[in-house]
Amino acid sequence: MCGFVFFFFCFVFFLLLTDFSHFSAVFSEDDFYQVKACCSFNGPNFDKVEYILTTSFNKQKMMEYNSTRGNWIGFTDFSIVASYYWNRDPWDRLERLVEMRLMCYENINFIQTIGNLSTTPSMRLKSVKQTDGRHPAMLVCSAYNFYPKQIKITWLRNDQEVTEGVSNTDAIPVGELYYQFHSYLEYTPTSGEKISCMVEHVTLSEPRIIVWNDSLPEGEKNKIIVGLSGLILGLVIFISGFIYYKKKCKLGRSVISTTVNMQ
Ligand SMILES: *[C@@H]1O[C@H](CO)[C@@H](O)[C@H](O)[C@H]1NC(C)=O
Ligand SMILES: *[C@@H]1O[C@H](CO)[C@@H](O)[C@H](O)[C@H]1NC(C)=O
Ligand SMILES: *[C@@H]1O[C@H](CO)[C@@H](O)[C@H](O)[C@H]1NC(C)=O
Repeated sequence: MCGFVFFFFCFVFFLLLTDFSHFSAVFSEDDFYQVKACCSFNGPNFDKVEYILTTSFNKQKMMEYNSTRGNWIGFTDFSIVASYYWNRDPWDRLERLVEMRLMCYENINFIQTIGNLSTTPSMRLKSVKQTDGRHPAMLVCSAYNFYPKQIKITWLRNDQEVTEGVSNTDAIPVGELYYQFHSYLEYTPTSGEKISCMVEHVTLSEPRIIVWNDSLPEGEKNKIIVGLSGLILGLVIFISGFIYYKKKCKLGRSVISTTVNMQ
């Protein structure tokens, strides 16, 4: 399901009826007639196109054409009658199809390009400050490399929303297109509670939930230990090299000094 990602654009045409008011008492200075034509793009590749044409008189919606439904409906007594006849007119149907092709299909590549730019956030939940007994710990839930920038992060304690101790950054632009976002939670750990961070973004068909786990998973522990051993090994090699270098220097110097002495 991809119902979340959705684009649309509209063209609006106004017709002020002031000119008519000189000839007829029916229209006043302020009357206007409006035609609004909208294309909406839906589906995984935005290839589900819908064309909606609405006509209004002074903000009162009068008629609506919906390409999915394939007909007009009227909202006032007069337009209900008019839509009955327009729906039986093959020329009207043809005109609507031509309009839809010109307005919506001519623009679909552009919409797809914008749509393809959207990327799902990659998420990370970590602790930035451990509790020291007096101060609470601080967790940060981060979203990286996502587009568009609208995003929502919610903290949950045992699946209930937490609002206290929460602070958010703005969506920070990264490079030309992508954004990152961080949400902080101050919290005092108590046993048996589950803290999680919930992320909502247009590219996710349902919210993604990351559960905070205080104990490092085994894989991470191993990585740290292997990394640490590597560091120590490197240090040992460095120190022994340094000692060797010093020794060699001393040796060289003594050779030089002996030569000097010989002259
Ligand atoms: C157009 O008609 C279809 C089918 O009846 C409906 O699902 C859709 O919501 C309508 N669109 C609008 C904008 O009303
Ligand atoms: C957008 O992505 C879809 C599928 O990934 C692809 O079929 C389509 O050609 C792309 N459109 C553009 C304009 O890049
Ligand atoms: C935390 O991670 C450890 C190791 O991966 C796992 O055994 C434990 O069940 C996890 N705890 C929770 C609450 O998910």
